[in-house]
Amino acid sequence: MKFGYFDDLRKEYVINTPRTPYPWINYLGNQGFFSLISNTAGGYSFYKDARLRRITRYRYNNVPLDMGGRYFYINDNGTIWNPGWSPVKTELDEYECRHGMGYTIIKGKKNGLKAEVTFFVPQNYDGEVQQVVLTNEGTEAKSFSIFSIAEWCLWDAQDDCTNFQRNFSTGRVEIEGSTIYHVTEYRDRRNHYAFYTVNDEIDGYDTDRDSFLGSIYNGWDNPETVKADKPSNSFADGWSPVASHYKKVTLAPGESKTLIYILGYAENPQDKKFASEKPANLLTRETWVLNKEKAYAMIDKYNTPEKVAAGLEELRTTWDKLLSIFKVDTPDDKVNRMVNIWNQYQCMVTFNLSRSASYFESGIGRGMGFRDSNQDILGFVHQIPERARERLIDIASTQLSDGGCYHQYQPLTKKGNADIGGDFSDDPLWMILSVAAYIKETGDWGILDANVPFDDDPEGKHTMLEHLDVSFYHIVNNLGPHGLPLAMRADWNDCINLSCFSDTPGESFQTYTNPKFKAEGGYSKVAESAFVAALFTYTGPAYVGILEHLGKADEAAKAQAEIDKMKKNTMESAFDGDWFIRAYDANGEKMGSKECEEGKIFIEPQGFAVMSEIGKDVGADIKTLNSIDKYLNCEFGLVLNNPAYTKYYIQYGEISTYPGGYKENAGIFTHNNAWIICAEAYAGRGDKAFEYYSKIAPAFTEETSDIHKTEPYVYGQMIGGKDAKNFGQGKNSWLTGTAAWNMVAISQYILGVKPEFDGLRVDPSIPAAWDGFAATRQFRGDTYEITIKNPDHVNKGVKSLTVDGAAVEGCIVPVAGDGKTHKVEVVLG
Ligand code: GLC
Ligand code: GLC
Repeated sequence: MKFGYFDDLRKEYVINTPRTPYPWINYLGNQGFFSLISNTAGGYSFYKDARLRRITRYRYNNVPLDMGGRYFYINDNGTIWNPGWSPVKTELDEYECRHGMGYTIIKGKKNGLKAEVTFFVPQNYDGEVQQVVLTNEGTEAKSFSIFSIAEWCLWDAQDDCTNFQRNFSTGRVEIEGSTIYHVTEYRDRRNHYAFYTVNDEIDGYDTDRDSFLGSIYNGWDNPETVKADKPSNSFADGWSPVASHYKKVTLAPGESKTLIYILGYAENPQDKKFASEKPANLLTRETWVLNKEKAYAMIDKYNTPEKVAAGLEELRTTWDKLLSIFKVDTPDDKVNRMVNIWNQYQCMVTFNLSRSASYFESGIGRGMGFRDSNQDILGFVHQIPERARERLIDIASTQLSDGGCYHQYQPLTKKGNADIGGDFSDDPLWMILSVAAYIKETGDWGILDANVPFDDDPEGKHTMLEHLDVSFYHIVNNLGPHGLPLAMRADWNDCINLSCFSDTPGESFQTYTNPKFKAEGGYSKVAESAFVAALFTYTGPAYVGILEHLGKADEAAKAQAEIDKMKKNTMESAFDGDWFIRAYDANGEKMGSKECEEGKIFIEPQGFAVMSEIGKDVGADIKTLNSIDKYLNCEFGLVLNNPAYTKYYIQYGEISTYPGGYKENAGIFTHNNAWIICAEAYAGRGDKAFEYYSKIAPAFTEETSDIHKTEPYVYGQMIGGKDAKNFGQGKNSWLTGTAAWNMVAISQYILGVKPEFDGLRVDPSIPAAWDGFAATRQFRGDTYEITIKNPDHVNKGVKSLTVDGAAVEGCIVPVAGDGKTHKVEVVLG
């Protein structure tokens, strides 16, 4: 069952009922100001950091779920409705929500009155513009009123939802004309404020929530002022400040009126915080006056429909440009819409926000993840490489000089998060992968010389290359008894915690240090991760390639020797006959082995082992892939492990606390499905790769949206696995490494267009049924128009490759570097 459809031409998903199985959201903004907006206009805004600079309030885990947002209420002679249906939920005569690239349009119609609201955050602008177009589609004149509402968050979202004894007494506002300013704590220690304005005279306002609602017993669905068609012109003094504009409108038949609301954020320099004059129309209780110059300038920027149209056009052009860097035309529309539109769009969002703020991440739980952000770059780097470069330097600066890493950092401070600490065994490797991806994309070897400090030596002069060195050797220097990398607190799988042995509620599986390992430095020196081993052998060659390019042959050979040794150790100690084991636990027992009672096979190490060709000479790759198909493959994707754990295994940690079929305990973790898609494609099995790709790619799940529940245009982190009651049900949509990795899987492995240090590899691994496909790729200043022909209907194999008619050996298109368009023709066979 579907709840809408894709409008590919406009790059939108069109939702045609407000009753989606879960709030289906979009993100506005991609630099400083961000908003989350659901199909019923729920959600909130923040500046840069969803925890420390929250602008509007939102209550997670609410009943009903998505309550609180930016709402417009219309009172049409006693009939009260919202253009987005919620919160009043009056049945609408027409409803539509279009989520597009950085904007959302919600349309509602009731009794001949149509309201179309366009929400967007313009480029280089710290505010959300909401353009409301009201049209009388009836045959008689109509008089009605419209109320807006935004509820301010008192900035620190964590504090806002916990520290009521203080916060109920601190709220402050100012009102000037049609603009309501939120200035809580501004006088004292804050230099930032927010405002909500409308480009017209208003007939009243409210700034105190309880006055707007009329009673503390009312919810957003039942505001007294709206029902009475009479704002209370309240002035907030503590409690919960809000901003609501009241406007009376009369429209002749066929007539329209446009109102432009702006929810903005601004910062003042310390010496310009206050205005010297108090304007006559200013309503305030303070003895000081906010300097509003920045707000005035922002309001002036979008106070007419023409300016709004120009802002939208600029946003559209920006996205058209971003999406023209890589475009494909395959025989499958769903692939086209994922690759050309939605997967790339999601990669931008995950790059921006890491795992911080979604409808499943509260924005107060975690900062930017070291491993997460590095992986996000893999799917984003071609869009805006300069931003990827800046991010790489930020992340690397939180690394320690021995190669260890802070697992998370806060985007506002860019400092490593001491509460979470480090010792996640996989972290450093992702850094090698992402820096290599950046160089492969751009050819900017200069990044290796960039001055990048270590967290424990902030003043020291260090280069990015040194960060790669210590990353690589952090693995080599931390091996266990079988010569495999120590598992430490966790590896990619946060829930395999082999040193935790936790038996006390509330202990964090990731950060709790069991006294039994305290003396050893916090984690077992026996527990080893076969996953990190395989990730090391997959990632290592990029490091070697970098050293070779720099002419450091000795160092390259030394690193290569470590990779070869790791492959040997992995084959000897971690190959279980038909697949690779997951780990050795702290007791030295195998995890993820045939010998285990449950959790006999895990997905994570397999793909990287196959792509590293560990044991390929003895057929380990194909055996492994076949085992995955046999044990992990099911209707909705590949489960993480099998059989699911049904007991608590204290020696494994968090994983076995999840009911079977969910999350890391045999859920379909779509992130690592991509590694198998890549591996199948790598091994030349394009049909299998595509089968796995299409099981989880959102556009392919659209038809089963009633089961899948989450947005059919973006990936979620997890889908209920075959052991789950809710088999096939998606969760944790939007902010997941799945976006980047599936972008890599489809574009670089299946479609096979893959940047390398010395050119653009074109080596597809596609369904045999395909006749071929076309792709356009902008790469290092040139444009490559690629045509793939598949006359023999094979999965993989480049029979011939020509560039502008001239034959090229192998499958790497050399960099032309002339800024021109080049025709690449590939024949498979
Ligand atoms: C979450 C985390 C990610 C981790 C994964 C598996 O998605 O953000 O860092 O690798 O879970 O545990
Ligand atoms: C929990 C989740 C995992 C997430 C981790 C980080 O362990 O299961 O997916 O990555 O928390 O906070």
